[in-house]
Amino acid sequence: MSQEELFENSGQCGGGVNADKRNKSFLGLIATGVVGGSLVALYAVAAPFVAPALRKVCLPFVPATPAQVQNVLQALRARSGTLVDIGSGDGRIVIAAAKHGFQASGFELNPWLVWYSRYKAWRAGVHRSTSFHISDLWKASFAPYSNVVIFGVPQMMDQLELKLSSELPVTAKVVACRFPFPTWIPECTEGEGIDTVWVYDARTFKTNLHQGVARNTLIEKQNKPDSCS
Ligand SMILES: C[S@@+](CC[C@H](N)C(=O)[O-])C[C@H]1O[C@@H](n2cnc3c(N)ncnc32)[C@H](O)[C@@H]1O
Repeated sequence: MSQEELFENSGQCGGGVNADKRNKSFLGLIATGVVGGSLVALYAVAAPFVAPALRKVCLPFVPATPAQVQNVLQALRARSGTLVDIGSGDGRIVIAAAKHGFQASGFELNPWLVWYSRYKAWRAGVHRSTSFHISDLWKASFAPYSNVVIFGVPQMMDQLELKLSSELPVTAKVVACRFPFPTWIPECTEGEGIDTVWVYDARTFKTNLHQGVARNTLIEKQNKPDSCS
């Protein structure tokens, strides 16, 4: 082989190595993009579920059981009009209430759950009688609602008592799932165990608030309420 041929061959060989390197770095770039993109997507999906746990009051997404939903509907069977589920999760209470004739709304911090709720309401054919709001419950006003449902945690219930006492009309009913309000006196309860719901009449708790009835007196009065049924 002449020196010229040798030179040309070595050039070709060097070009092959360079092309190989270019391919590898291109593949590396794609792999980095895919991994980076997946991590960003994972964070975007997971963050709204984790965020409630990092707030002052930790209220995680724990959906109501079917028995709990039935107890809410049973407790409100004689009622109609507007209903709100505070922290509406995947929208199951709002959708069930809309199927029973309520104009039902949900307030929920997690946008994924709100979009999923809207999709479920559309699938269930109740999108016209439901609305879902991406909103912090502490920043929303519940004044327009005559039926209020809350599946909260004990740490938030005394603060929520004050908020609802000052916002709701006297004609409103409030249903607390799993955890009762600390000082309000329930008019009745529905269900048993973790599926228990407590029903409160706004006229009663607003009167007690305005009369400044001592908290201890109210707690004493909370002896076993009657069943709603
Ligand atoms: C215990 S789950 C109840 C879900 C639904 N109400 C049910 O019974 O199936 C509480 C919900 O409140 C939401 N949440 C937590 N903090 C909130 C806030 N500050 N404002 C609005 N929603 C909140 C959570 O994302 C979660 O979906």
